[in-house]
Amino acid sequence: MKLCMIGTGYVGLVSGVCFADLGNDVVCVDKDSSKIKSLKNGIVPIFEPGLSELVIKNYRNKRLTFSTNLKESIENSDIIFICVGTPTKKNGTSADLSQIYNVAQTIGSSINKFKIIITKSTVPVTTGDDIEKILLKKNSRKSFSVVSNPEFLREGEAIRDFIFPDRIVIGSNDKKTNRIMKNLYSPLISKGAQYIHTSRRAAELIKYSSNAFLATKITFINEIANLCEKTDINIEDISIGMGLDKRIGSRFLRAGPAYGGSCFPKDTKAIISTGKRFKTNLTLINSVIKSNENRSNLLLNRVNEILNKKIKNKKITFLGVTFKANTDDMRDSSCLKMIPKLTKMGAIIRYYDPTGYKKEFSKIKNVLYIDSIKKSVEGADLVIIHTEWNDFKSINFKNLSKGKKFIIYDMRNIYSPSKIKAQGFKYFSIGR
Ligand code: UDX
Repeated sequence: MKLCMIGTGYVGLVSGVCFADLGNDVVCVDKDSSKIKSLKNGIVPIFEPGLSELVIKNYRNKRLTFSTNLKESIENSDIIFICVGTPTKKNGTSADLSQIYNVAQTIGSSINKFKIIITKSTVPVTTGDDIEKILLKKNSRKSFSVVSNPEFLREGEAIRDFIFPDRIVIGSNDKKTNRIMKNLYSPLISKGAQYIHTSRRAAELIKYSSNAFLATKITFINEIANLCEKTDINIEDISIGMGLDKRIGSRFLRAGPAYGGSCFPKDTKAIISTGKRFKTNLTLINSVIKSNENRSNLLLNRVNEILNKKIKNKKITFLGVTFKANTDDMRDSSCLKMIPKLTKMGAIIRYYDPTGYKKEFSKIKNVLYIDSIKKSVEGADLVIIHTEWNDFKSINFKNLSKGKKFIIYDMRNIYSPSKIKAQGFKYFSIGR
């Protein structure tokens, strides 16, 4: 099968490379020519463990190619994956589908034999119907099939999530297409992946519902953590105790900063917007969005209390500023809210991140990137552990503090409170 991935962002690049590794001929297309040039030289524009190696291997094997020529790539392929961005609309909450529709127009004028067109991008319910309408303007119904095949890839774990998915969801209203899709995914199905076939609209909604549910689970445990802090209870006990109930499950019950990333904040807003369009109140998801938006303020109040309401001129070090570990992605990281507010309150911020300097803070006064953990904590009043990179899991704080003991606020509950306190540090964490 010849595959064409349109868009070489996270989803398109990871999926394209993994499909090539499974033995398919894949062309990854992007309108950004500098990105395509870099990829041809083996330079991967995003940080994703294992991705570079797979790109280089499959590019050398010639199973993977890169192109900026969309029309030609579509014409030469049997299966077309749409993997372009669906960000939140400026001045709105719904998903901006302009890139999807632009691509659909080009596909519409490039169908030269039967093609399967798949949305891997996260798209609101009925987008598949809209794409179909665009394609029908220039083509007969028999010459194409539109499918929804949502991705469930976590950044930092994307390759493993592709190869060992919990499930593969194919939303198609056509039997022949379903057979071809099952065949495409057969190497993963034979390794144990669950394959489910639904209507196209159901597949579209499965993606949004999954992300909204996961965001709810995190928000739930974050609120319970707030209660634990007031009642002298350890949130870790609650997460374990709840998670052992198979109906609840233990994953995504880790309390921490506000959730962020490229999906949860955007998709929770977009599903509310879909609800409005179909006159359905999604009150629970609305509360989740509000609670999460408020969480950064809540943690800042805690920082204020920890520093006895004297933030002015305090040196605060952030260890990790991305939205989570194992990614260089800053999108909707809670640091983007917390750091500017702290500087407004007079704090001097230094940060270290394993993925380096972040341009997002370049214009903010009193925010400085430091290139090592050791130097970044020197002379600090407060050290905030914001992400759970392995690099932060066995820091010898005693050696680093050189006499002057900084306060530690561990927002990911990495350390044992009793052990750190026994070393003479003031230590705070989340919900315990
Ligand atoms: C998510 C979904 O997991 C994935 O299926 C979807 O396709 C894309 O969005 P990702 O954004 O990479 O993936 O990150 P994820 O690991 O899900 O974490 C999202 C946010 O939740 C992060 O800010 C993370 O720190 C936070 N989180 C996650 C918690 O605070 N606690 C948890 O227990 C889990």
